[in-house]
Amino acid sequence: MPTKAMTLETTRRKLEDLLLEPGAEAVPIRLIASEDDLAGLSEAERRWVEARGWKPAQGAVLLLPGEGGGLGAVLLGTGGKDWAAKAPMLTGALSGALPEGDYYFADTMPDPELAALGFLAAGYRFTRYKTESDQKPKRLVRPEGADRDRVLALAQALYFGRDLINTPASDLGPAELEAAVRDLADTFGGSVKVTEGETLLSDNFPMIHAVGRASDRPPRLIDLRWGADNAPKVTVVGKGICFDTGGLNIKSGAGMGLMKKDMGGAAAALAFALMVMREKLPVRLRVLIPAADNSISGNAFRPGDVLTSRNGMTVEIGNTDAEGRLVLADALSLADEEAPDYLITFATLTGAARVALGPDLPPLYADDDAFAGKLLDVSHAVGDPLWRMPFWANYDKLLKSNVADVSHISEGGFAGSVTAALFLKRFVKDAKRFAHLDIYGWVPREQYGRPQGGEPHAARALFQFFREELGS
Ligand code: BES
Ligand code: MN
Ligand code: ZN
Repeated sequence: MPTKAMTLETTRRKLEDLLLEPGAEAVPIRLIASEDDLAGLSEAERRWVEARGWKPAQGAVLLLPGEGGGLGAVLLGTGGKDWAAKAPMLTGALSGALPEGDYYFADTMPDPELAALGFLAAGYRFTRYKTESDQKPKRLVRPEGADRDRVLALAQALYFGRDLINTPASDLGPAELEAAVRDLADTFGGSVKVTEGETLLSDNFPMIHAVGRASDRPPRLIDLRWGADNAPKVTVVGKGICFDTGGLNIKSGAGMGLMKKDMGGAAAALAFALMVMREKLPVRLRVLIPAADNSISGNAFRPGDVLTSRNGMTVEIGNTDAEGRLVLADALSLADEEAPDYLITFATLTGAARVALGPDLPPLYADDDAFAGKLLDVSHAVGDPLWRMPFWANYDKLLKSNVADVSHISEGGFAGSVTAALFLKRFVKDAKRFAHLDIYGWVPREQYGRPQGGEPHAARALFQFFREELGS
């Protein structure tokens, strides 16, 4: 059976159907912050709650029978009145616990947009390879105060990013990643330029070429532009390694198992781009995606090789598994040439970031305290949390090479996420602000609004930052 790539159009239509307009008939969802709130239920409902031994713990869901024996109402435990600050995406707990049907929030939600988004985001399933779709749609009546198009834009971006990550490398190589960017550009009126294969050498992207040349799927640099030239320049760079074998420094079986997600940075950058374009933020957006397979063959780059980067810096290769920072470096050099107001990288860059902060909390590196502080604040507010880590200048010396200008990995492997960030920073000189996000791109165990599988981490956080910063 041939499987077809999800297009933006099919995802858009699917989501449209899941968000009903106010007034539609639906089952009420009631928020229960504490046992006291149960006093608002009928006598029969209270007895049901008691018989089930149900407690309103955060994320606990209970289905209540209606008078005719059908589903009458749904209770969602919040674990306290201040739930919105602790778990902004709490409504994501609902989807998995509900039968197919139509629902509405009976209570006023502190943030109607996030409440709706949490619900829709949790309903995502990756169905591309399921012969029989077992989708049981749970629809939500749009809460008053939630902008329909904004909710749908955010949800579509998450679905898009997740589809890209979840698609195995056999169906998502550099060419398919390019096709996804073209779909995005065609839909929202952007333009795309691609530098592919040997042209990477003549156009001076030597490290993207070196990393990707061992694959029979040619590497490329994908360059998407959108928006008015006189608007603030926002450039995002996403790591697009479609599969990371580790190269000649081959990964173990366990280490390689999930490496279809090594284009998670590209997926996050594109999810962010979708939000920006669909919501028409007043920015001049540029998305750069170095797309490549880190493969093994006779012409693979080797440990000990010295590469010359786009900006002329020579780089000694310590380990071919540290490929992401190499392709990003050439893309960053290009981005930096036009001195953007904001330059941000998204990348599944290091295992060390997972050791430090685990899969859910991407490190944010940024020197500009005002920028970093605001980005952190909004990230927590919208439930796409980040944690700040330092561009610790003293560790720069760990990147010293005896034969080249710089080594791309740290001596002794200390501070792996920090030194990877420091390596990237060497390629940024003129951008007004630079941030780097070392994301995991994957949800090992389901969370509120985040089903197990691919996740474009940090895309919503960055979007929210620009929304507030540019007062849209
Ligand atoms: N894509 C990996 C990083 C990664 C691994 C992210 C597992 C998330 C989960 C990256 O290309 C890599 O292999 N990094 C190496 C760098 C090392 C060789 C200096 C790592 O982190 O082990
Ligand atoms: Mn690697
Ligand atoms: Zn990688």
